[in-house]
Amino acid sequence: MPQDIVFHPLAFRNLTVKNRVLRSNISGRFDNYDGSGNQARINWEASFAKGGVGAIISSFVPVHLRGRIVPNYAMIDHDSRIPFWRKVGEAVHAHDCKYILQLSHGGRQRDVNGIEYPVGLSSTDKSDPVHGFRCERMTIPQIKDVVQSFAEGARRAREAGLDGVELHGANGYLITQFLSSAINDRTDEYGGSLENRARFVLDIVRAIRARVGNDFHLQMKISAVDHDDVLALFKRGPSGNTLAESVQVCRWLEQAGVDAIHVSTGSFFPHPMNPKGKDLPIEDLERAYDAMISSGERTFLNYLLFRGVTGRIARRAWNDAAGDLDAIEGANLPEARAIKQAVTIPVICTGGFQTASVIRAAITRGDCDAVSAARPLVANRDLVQIFARGDDRAARPCTYCNKCLVNVVENPLGCYDETRFASRDEMVRQIMSVFEPQPFQGV
Ligand SMILES: Cc1cc2nc3c(=O)[nH]c(=O)nc-3n(C[C@H](O)[C@H](O)[C@H](O)COP(=O)(O)O)c2cc1C
Ligand code: SF4
Repeated sequence: MPQDIVFHPLAFRNLTVKNRVLRSNISGRFDNYDGSGNQARINWEASFAKGGVGAIISSFVPVHLRGRIVPNYAMIDHDSRIPFWRKVGEAVHAHDCKYILQLSHGGRQRDVNGIEYPVGLSSTDKSDPVHGFRCERMTIPQIKDVVQSFAEGARRAREAGLDGVELHGANGYLITQFLSSAINDRTDEYGGSLENRARFVLDIVRAIRARVGNDFHLQMKISAVDHDDVLALFKRGPSGNTLAESVQVCRWLEQAGVDAIHVSTGSFFPHPMNPKGKDLPIEDLERAYDAMISSGERTFLNYLLFRGVTGRIARRAWNDAAGDLDAIEGANLPEARAIKQAVTIPVICTGGFQTASVIRAAITRGDCDAVSAARPLVANRDLVQIFARGDDRAARPCTYCNKCLVNVVENPLGCYDETRFASRDEMVRQIMSVFEPQPFQGV
């Protein structure tokens, strides 16, 4: 019998990973306020490497302080960050796993401002419609400056011995703010036509290639469809980029030197369709959202909205907008397939994957070349080992309850579905295990 495709190595142009399951971007506020990293992040990433995934794609790593979405995320905005990322890479490599760093800039979409930059940068000067974070429209010199920050971030990742970088071009962050027809309202060469809206990300790709050469892995996470008008509550006109537009952008990205496409969905984050959950956990949301109350122009209003009767209405609207709640695993596969048919570089698909037979079928059908998983691996770090033993699913799979998601702004990231644990104490113990080991580093 030929070897299971899930365990076939995947060769990108500049990187080979040992199997077809990558850890998708996910991280909590484990690091230091000033953007330096610490042992908890190393423990976090190493735990997935140990569980058997072929590669880890880091969470949101800001290339510039002003691109940060919350404090306590490790950054790559300065050469002084290189030694930390080298340590992360070494810890992951020790388990025969690759490490791809997600180069990111939040633009106007943030969670908690922090004290350094109350006003974000964007393609527009309109506040983000979900939380109401204020922003200013970037000038051409500011655009050129941010493009260089991405290129320097890639250079630092390479110097740290990491295996590649991913552009966070999805889910409403700065690159989406340029790409999306629902957000970008510029009238200069960076706005208007698709070609103009794609100019920013293509400038970034070219700047990275000029800085690190052609032999370093570079992939792009993209929202294949914006679905910007999915929530009537925040609706502001058009639905944004279509699949056909994103397919064209992916062709341009390939021509400019991108080595793989990572397919996601939605023009803001979180979005009813990403990460798609069985339910909006409104009680957990109400408990954790207070951390954001003073951050944006709409955050206090949202906090009130999540309570009582209006909370129940918001929950219903969110769930309705998510679509078929029984079709979470592989929900982005049709879009991944359309992109795969238009490019020759490998395509990675994100969204709900936790069943070996589903992953195997998706790759065999030619929908994608690999999948990435976030929540299912938070629930079961050893998912790939479970597949290797011949089991199709974990005994206690991720329930897609999205409690990990709504807790992450205030609490350590981990699985918060108590039904998956023998007791609440066991759940808390597992969440807090990210802080072990914690070598003593000072007086
Ligand atoms: C708590 C949380 C944090 C996330 N952080 C990021 C991130 O930093 N960057 C990113 O591109 N996606 C992020 N995502 C999205 C995931 O990477 C993934 O694409 C999405 O959750 C769908 O996959 P899943 O069903 O396997 O969770 C996050 C998701 C969750 C639940
Ligand atoms: S809290 Fe746990 S079960 Fe719920 S979505 Fe997150 S990882 Fe899955």
